[in-house]
Amino acid sequence: MGSNGRVAGKVAIVTGAASGIGAAIAERLGEEGARVVVADIDVEAGEALAAKLGEGGVQAVFERLDVTSEADWQRVVHDTLGGFGGLDILVNCAGVAVGGQELLQHDFANWRRILAINLDGVFLGLRYGGAAIVANGGGAIVNISSVASKAAVIRGAAYCASKAGVAQLTKVAALEWAPLGVRVNSVHPGYVETPLVAELIRQAPDADAMRAAAIARHPIGRLGLPREIANAVLFLASDEAGFATGAELLVDGGYVLP
Ligand SMILES: NC(=O)c1ccc[n+]([C@@H]2O[C@H](COP(=O)([O-])OP(=O)(O)OC[C@H]3O[C@@H](n4cnc5c(N)ncnc54)[C@H](O)[C@@H]3O)[C@@H](O)[C@H]2O)c1
Repeated sequence: MGSNGRVAGKVAIVTGAASGIGAAIAERLGEEGARVVVADIDVEAGEALAAKLGEGGVQAVFERLDVTSEADWQRVVHDTLGGFGGLDILVNCAGVAVGGQELLQHDFANWRRILAINLDGVFLGLRYGGAAIVANGGGAIVNISSVASKAAVIRGAAYCASKAGVAQLTKVAALEWAPLGVRVNSVHPGYVETPLVAELIRQAPDADAMRAAAIARHPIGRLGLPREIANAVLFLASDEAGFATGAELLVDGGYVLP
């Protein structure tokens, strides 16, 4: 897809950008003219993506960011402001889904691990990245929630709770920051072809049946592609979505309709 400069000149931090949906978002924002901070705990894959974007003419850097670390957030935001001179867009995409447990066996440490990455991570992103966007005079934040914020799944206690939390946290930020020129929206993907979903399917007792069942849950009749999520994020991050804040954008092949 060619570039129309839809986010030309903007500086964007994308968390979880080393893989899957986050990588597609980093690429898509870069194609449309943003300078991109690829932020992830996976140094090797993150550096590789930043290098690939650079070869394609995108100004991109990798920053090691554990979204659960306050110190990491402070450093990454500081480095971004120093290196790129501002911050306009934040996409909170880092998340984990594998390792869910049924409630009767759920250990507390696992609950806290999933909540820490999926929900605390977004809070810290808002607290530090969002604050920098406010200080910069305005911009846009997109938080990646999930259809799991709407529909429950067995063994999804922590995941569903974390993603519902992301949706409501998004709305509070949208309300508080609307007068400050910062729009905050959430995107809710259905199942998307990423390493995360591949691992979920691989771990099922019958992987083929699991894959077929996952597809059957989507009226469109297939799983989504990372780029299809990235296109929605690009829209919300761009000035085209100038009147949209606090919105929940489902990109789920109809998953939550039935
Ligand atoms: N794939 C789907 O079907 C789907 C559906 C709905 C929502 N989502 C959400 O989209 C997001 C991305 O999912 P994906 O499928 O691309 O997953 P993925 O596993 O392919 O990528 C997730 C990335 O997050 C990074 N990450 C994990 N913990 C981190 C931490 N503490 N700090 C920084 N980075 C960390 C990983 O290193 C990885 O690069 C997640 O928030 C996920 O919950 C995915």
